[in-house]
Amino acid sequence: MRMRKKKHLESRTENCGEYLMSFTTEDKNFNTAVLNKDYIDFKELFGNDNPVYLEIGCGKGQFACEMAKLHPNWNFLAVEKVQNVIVAAAEKARNDELPNVRFVKCGAEYLPCFIPDKSIAGIYLNFSCPYPKNAYKSHRLTNERFLKIYNELLMDNAIICQKTDNMHFFEYSLEEFSRCGWRVENISLDLHNSDIEENVVTEYEHRFSSQGFPIYRLEAKKPKENILVSQCLLGIKCKYDGGANSLEGREVLEKNYNLIPVCPECLGGLPIPRVPAEIVDGRVINKNGEDVTENFERGAESALMLAKTFGCKKAILKSNSPSCGYGQVYDGTFSHKKKEGNGITADLLERNGIMIYNEKQIGGI
Ligand SMILES: C[S@@+](CC[C@H](N)C(=O)[O-])C[C@H]1O[C@@H](n2cnc3c(N)ncnc32)[C@H](O)[C@@H]1O
Ligand code: SF4
Repeated sequence: MRMRKKKHLESRTENCGEYLMSFTTEDKNFNTAVLNKDYIDFKELFGNDNPVYLEIGCGKGQFACEMAKLHPNWNFLAVEKVQNVIVAAAEKARNDELPNVRFVKCGAEYLPCFIPDKSIAGIYLNFSCPYPKNAYKSHRLTNERFLKIYNELLMDNAIICQKTDNMHFFEYSLEEFSRCGWRVENISLDLHNSDIEENVVTEYEHRFSSQGFPIYRLEAKKPKENILVSQCLLGIKCKYDGGANSLEGREVLEKNYNLIPVCPECLGGLPIPRVPAEIVDGRVINKNGEDVTENFERGAESALMLAKTFGCKKAILKSNSPSCGYGQVYDGTFSHKKKEGNGITADLLERNGIMIYNEKQIGGI
């Protein structure tokens, strides 16, 4: 177990008890270290299923402790890489007997070792070190390498809230979030004179604002995930008869996903309109008796290439089609009867690890 309370630290650390954990690893290369997972069980740690918020670089813990008091139904995990600083943070929580905040001594690079994917409801970056020299920009907590980590840890639609006194670091963060596809919202260039209502002041924030410096703040939403969608479901007239279909719930879907349209039959070189085809004994035969399997296979390969290019892990495909159908397809008699089986594209995508849904299952995505 690499996640443990540090036995060998001074008595202050010992006295923090369950409030303070330390993450240690022999592997100093975080790229390989993060391949070893030893996840925290949040339910066991906090004794409930409440959402878990993460503060990175928490310093002496004022923010995490105040937030824990303000939001008793949220849990807070706060990490900090400097031991004597995080001990002070854990002492605060212990003295106030806060049940919903815990501290981990570790560098942000190692978060994926002990925090499960998509388990975090929000991240706070308060007055992170700006590392002004360009040579050290990869240490900034809004550098692309950290944004990739946060993207994995955060639930869909969760946000990062960043505050800083440093204008150059703020500009850098805005650029980095945008460049990496994050959606930046609620930007304030002077938080203490803005309409933003709830603001818990951190130690550094107090120090800088009392010297008259404006506080910069932003919220950043995770980049949308790309999802492959049968093109006819998006109203594009690519069906065999020159018509289109529709997708109920499309607007809701578009809040979390970029829709990547694909029509495998068109990509396979077939015209619109075209003679309808169905699967017979593993071959695709059209109503004129012509074998069009090669076109369907070519289209499936192109659809897979598209999915890989856009990093799609999921696809919404039109049910029953000899290309897009999943679990059920027309039975080869051109009589609207169905049989068990997959369309050629659905089958190839599934074999390549893509989760397939049909147009009636999008509520479950
Ligand atoms: C300027 S202090 C701000 C402390 C506190 N958030 C506040 O607003 O008062 C930044 C803190 O981030 C910590 N830190 C910097 N890089 C870190 C990293 N990669 N992982 C964890 N903590 C980090 C530093 O040790 C420092 O305590
Ligand atoms: S191949 Fe798929 S996307 Fe193209 S028309 Fe048929 S069901 Fe729609």
